[in-house]
Amino acid sequence: MLVTSALPYANGPIHLGHMLEHIQSDIFVRYQRAIGNQVYYVCADDCHGTPIMIKANNMGITPEELITKVGVDHKADFDGFLISYDNYYRTHSPENQEFSTEIYKKLRDQGYISTRTISQLFDPEKNMFLPDRFVKGTCPRCGAKDQYGDNCEVCSATYDPTDLKDAYSTISGAKPVLKESVHYFFDLPKFNDFLQDYVKNSGAINKSMANKLDEWFSQGLKEWDISRDAPYFGFQIPDADNKYFYVWLDAPIGYMASFKNYCDKAGVNFDEFFKADSTKELYHFIGKDILYFHSLFWPATLKGANLRLPSGIFVHGYVTVNGTKMSKSKGTFIQASTYLKHLKPECLRYYFASKLTQDTVDIDLSLEDFQAKINSDIVGKIVNLASRCAGFITKRFDGKLAQSPYDNELMSKLGSIKEAVNAGYESRNYADALRAIMSLADEANRYIDREAPWVIAKEEGQEDKLQRVCTDGLNAFKAIITYLSPVLPEIYHKAQEFLNDPLAFNDAATPLLGHTINKFSPMFTRIDPKNIEAMIEDSKQDLAAAAAPAKDEKAPAAQNPDHGAKGNAQASDGNGEYEPLESEITIDDFAKIDLRVATIIKAEQVEGAKKLLRLELDLGFEQRQVFAGIKSAYKDPVSLIGKQVIVVANLKARQMKFGLSQGMVMAAGPGGEDIFLLSPDAGAKNGDRVH
Ligand code: MSP
Ligand code: ZN
Repeated sequence: MLVTSALPYANGPIHLGHMLEHIQSDIFVRYQRAIGNQVYYVCADDCHGTPIMIKANNMGITPEELITKVGVDHKADFDGFLISYDNYYRTHSPENQEFSTEIYKKLRDQGYISTRTISQLFDPEKNMFLPDRFVKGTCPRCGAKDQYGDNCEVCSATYDPTDLKDAYSTISGAKPVLKESVHYFFDLPKFNDFLQDYVKNSGAINKSMANKLDEWFSQGLKEWDISRDAPYFGFQIPDADNKYFYVWLDAPIGYMASFKNYCDKAGVNFDEFFKADSTKELYHFIGKDILYFHSLFWPATLKGANLRLPSGIFVHGYVTVNGTKMSKSKGTFIQASTYLKHLKPECLRYYFASKLTQDTVDIDLSLEDFQAKINSDIVGKIVNLASRCAGFITKRFDGKLAQSPYDNELMSKLGSIKEAVNAGYESRNYADALRAIMSLADEANRYIDREAPWVIAKEEGQEDKLQRVCTDGLNAFKAIITYLSPVLPEIYHKAQEFLNDPLAFNDAATPLLGHTINKFSPMFTRIDPKNIEAMIEDSKQDLAAAAAPAKDEKAPAAQNPDHGAKGNAQASDGNGEYEPLESEITIDDFAKIDLRVATIIKAEQVEGAKKLLRLELDLGFEQRQVFAGIKSAYKDPVSLIGKQVIVVANLKARQMKFGLSQGMVMAAGPGGEDIFLLSPDAGAKNGDRVH
């Protein structure tokens, strides 16, 4: 079988949301390999499209340079999480160009491609057509300013970019003009009957997703615009003048291209997998936001090109952290690389596995629960089980396990959970598999508590019992870690060394008897809450540096608020450098910051502080103390008394060496002598809110 994960965009870092998918597919693949199936597992970076082109441009590098750099980072992240790809490639590749061109020609020759002229917003300064995300303006419904081209984040209206008032290009700031251009369309409606049948009857798509797709069928499928005008980073359409394939045409073909690239290296017969009557299996793991592309466009493309269809499209939900959407300001938009600096990959693998079912539901990473579960399950119940028994075998029996078990009931449980474990992995209900495995762990730990080898060890003439009880404990451990090998490959590897056995998955329940093991060494350490805190702090730091994903390339639009509107972040008057703009926020984000007018009623030096002044502020409804790092610019603090300022009034109070600082006064400027406090115009009252 061939298994894939969705191809991450090559313009931003891998985060824990992505990791859910790669962990989910990797567990499936490792399980399939473990039971003896032959699996190929591939992925790639999705390199094309306008956002990648613009981002590279803003960074002053070529798109090729950008995708090369990002590709290296992505690969390192997946390796770090022990994702066992046979090939990790890129869509900007000769194989993909060849396949995309070939498939396009087949579709065209069979009459599935037509052209027509459409008019679209165009940036006259940059000489390019503007995808919806790169147009902003005033919402035609509620009048909110700076809304995206396709929907208003204030009133949720959806509209056409041409409906915006005062529209401007986010790339150049210019006013867009309407311009006509010939576009190429794929005749999706012709595949309506085929697709309905495929979705309902092939078994590739589960019921709830099929129902979701029904909504689209009932609205009627529309022709799919597969072309984009230059400048565009992508593949040129062969018979067209300066037209490119829309990124979503060549992205799924990238699955084939990555596999082809692998086949050529490994001597595998590619055609066996993709010919129309292939008997091999093909599974795609994807997130719910890209269902439409994978279960409508992609099968229709394959069908039209006379190629095989996916055997299964497995759709997961979204990752939330602590119950809400991952948030950059809360530090819960956690990059894979940031996580790996502080925590072990297997913690997340285990946690996600314990929550994954075949249902498309969002998965919450509750950090407290995460820590508790890892410490209780992996450390408390699994690794401890081994460490409680290993010492006696090593010290008292020269590393040799008993010839026969002591408790046949416990031993029979090793095998009796097998069916549930296999069924869980096979059906991607990993939560079920882990529940069955942990019930064995619980039983084994109760058994060791009850038999108490540390007590037996002190008794005369109980050598045989001691050896057999500890052997039972270690055989339970063996079964547990072997069953968990798809989830915890590194601990499994350590267990292989410790138990001196290959630990074949299919023999998980067969006890090791009369067998010599190696000395036990600690396999895993507890999660310290400090690691989690440090990860969150680090993630906050990543905030400015992080690039936002390129969600505009998806229809329907705007799944993701991180539009990465850094297109115009390079404002400069030519004299000096400006700080880059932060990523865009909504009015709701802004509303969370409670700014108030206040009067400075006291201002003084702070002994021992190089930069700080102590201010007492009157906010109307209360008085507060704030330490402000403005000493270098306001050398005579008394001059500040009576001045009105703006305070971030709902900022968490901070205990400093010199006392509690209850808020922050706002100032502009780079620092040093150039710090300029903000004041309202005359007339503002203390306590007034700033909107
Ligand atoms: N490039 C396209 C996929 C092309 S596949 C031929 C794309 N890239 S993406 O980087 O935006 O997303 C890649 C995968 O990660 C998608 O399956 C998406 O659903 C998944 N996720 C991205 N953010 C996610 C979460 N917060 N939670 C769970 N999965 C998420 O789409
Ligand atoms: Zn609006």
